[in-house]
Amino acid sequence: MPSFLSISRRCSIISVVLLSLLSGCTKPQDPVFIESEKAKGLVPDVRQAIASELLDTFGTVPAPESPLWFPIERGGIEGKIRSVKERSENGRITRIKIRYPEEAPEVVAGDVIEIVLDPETILEADLKAAEEGGVSAAYPYKVTVAEFSKISGIITLTEPLCELAEKGSPCIVKPNETLRTGRELYKQYCQKCHAATGDGNGPQAHMLKPKPRDLRLGVLKYTSTKTNSKASTEDLRNLLKGGIPGTAMPAFQILGNHEIDALAQYTKYLSMRGEIERGLCIESEIDFSQEVLDEQLEEAESAEEKREVKEQFQKDVEEYLKIDFPEIVFDVSFDLAEKWSEADEPESKFEIPGSRPDGTGPSRAEPSISSLANGKFLYLSTSAQCASCHGLTGKGDGDQVSKVQKKPDGSDYEEPGLHDVWGNVVVPRDLTYGVFHGASNPSEDIADVVYRAIGAGIKGTPMPAYGGKSLTDDQIWDLVNYIFFLAGDYKDVTPESLDVKKPAAKK
Ligand code: HEC
Ligand code: HEC
Repeated sequence: MPSFLSISRRCSIISVVLLSLLSGCTKPQDPVFIESEKAKGLVPDVRQAIASELLDTFGTVPAPESPLWFPIERGGIEGKIRSVKERSENGRITRIKIRYPEEAPEVVAGDVIEIVLDPETILEADLKAAEEGGVSAAYPYKVTVAEFSKISGIITLTEPLCELAEKGSPCIVKPNETLRTGRELYKQYCQKCHAATGDGNGPQAHMLKPKPRDLRLGVLKYTSTKTNSKASTEDLRNLLKGGIPGTAMPAFQILGNHEIDALAQYTKYLSMRGEIERGLCIESEIDFSQEVLDEQLEEAESAEEKREVKEQFQKDVEEYLKIDFPEIVFDVSFDLAEKWSEADEPESKFEIPGSRPDGTGPSRAEPSISSLANGKFLYLSTSAQCASCHGLTGKGDGDQVSKVQKKPDGSDYEEPGLHDVWGNVVVPRDLTYGVFHGASNPSEDIADVVYRAIGAGIKGTPMPAYGGKSLTDDQIWDLVNYIFFLAGDYKDVTPESLDVKKPAAKK
């Protein structure tokens, strides 16, 4: 057992590199965000750069923040700097009055005031500072209120605002209030399963199958959106209200709409934080992983050469962090913000075409046989391969379940069976249960839920998207009917009566 002293000493050294490890040094209060495994594989300076980027952009667990340009409704009251009452020696604003379009909010010491700057302006200022060796003119664009006079309305700031702030600058008072509310609710209702960082490793997680979602990949399985789109905000709301039937993910029907909204935003916040960390790691690990450095050192023959390798590597790291890294941060953040906001556009919705036909009536795809018979035919066909995963009778026990599958890098998974993008074994649905996990929204027809699973696939899992590719809309509807047959609907229809004598012509 290391002594307390040695722990705290080590922590004080490491904390410079790794803010997340600070938890070991402080009293058990609010948890901290945990660094991802991917980030741990990078060289210390790059790890630190990513940690401080995450801290700057997303704040801490008790004080979550998001930049204004992220599609996260983080809260806050808009205003403009009405007058500048005092400046510091270098001319930066330290005391202000703010004008609000509506009623002035109650401001107290400790509240935050944020100047509205667009991401390009910040990037430009950062790059200029990197080139000239000065301090970026864009920081700090968020400062804390030291004092507020109710009589004069003058706000005194704890530190001067950035160079770019001036009279008339738009600002946000108390930004991130919604995120804070979301955080409090998350702590109460979600953390035990999804963990503070959203990695899905909460204290109750080990008991659950499927495991609570690791939100850091930003992938949601059950969405109303197209195959390559993110989840919409509405999807998140429906998910939280309705839960995921057939899994441990509860329905939070005790929560009001405002609470659901705050939680939906906080869920997006945790996803984006995780995705940005991941994105920066992926960009950085090509050249700056510990492995790359170790390989180079191994190749060096003499001690002298090793020293040179180290020096050159350090130089490259510094150059990377100064020039490329800020742009990479910008690109990764921008792409992500765009993807999440696109998911809320009507074009991203997966449209369910037509309507469910009568199962015992003729198939619209194969009018010579019934919809159910064609559904069965397609289900067992070698082109759709449903049975290879879901099994001949739909019990989720197809051949693929016992086969050892390949990882994306070509190596074998340790456990046999299908895997999802989180690296966990995922079992094809037992279709005889009639429980559909995508059915969070009680106002949605279950047939539509099943149609969407087949048409758009299930994100992050091997369940393929058949729509617009291998199956026509009518064929998918026939399959939907057959899935209901497998689940016990159509009590009067025997399985044998659905056998197609002559194979129906394939599309
Ligand atoms: C008892 C454990 C538990 C609690 C509490 C819990 N979840 Fe979950 N959650 C799960 C499990 C398990 C899954 C994964 C189900 C699956 O893979 O099909 C999940 C999945 C999710 C997903 C992914 C949905 C999708 O379509 O992929 C999100 C987002 C989520 N939970 C958010 C939350 C939020 C926010 C809260 C708190 C309001 C919460 N969860 C509370 C267990 C839990
Ligand atoms: C490569 C394997 C694979 C194939 C092929 C496959 N599925 Fe799936 N399917 C899955 C897995 C895995 C899941 C469970 C995903 C999850 O929710 O975690 C699933 C889930 C489903 C669900 C459940 C949806 C819900 O909301 O619960 C339905 C319905 C379904 N599949 C139908 C089909 C049909 C019909 C076909 C053929 C046209 C098919 N599947 C082909 C693997 C497969």
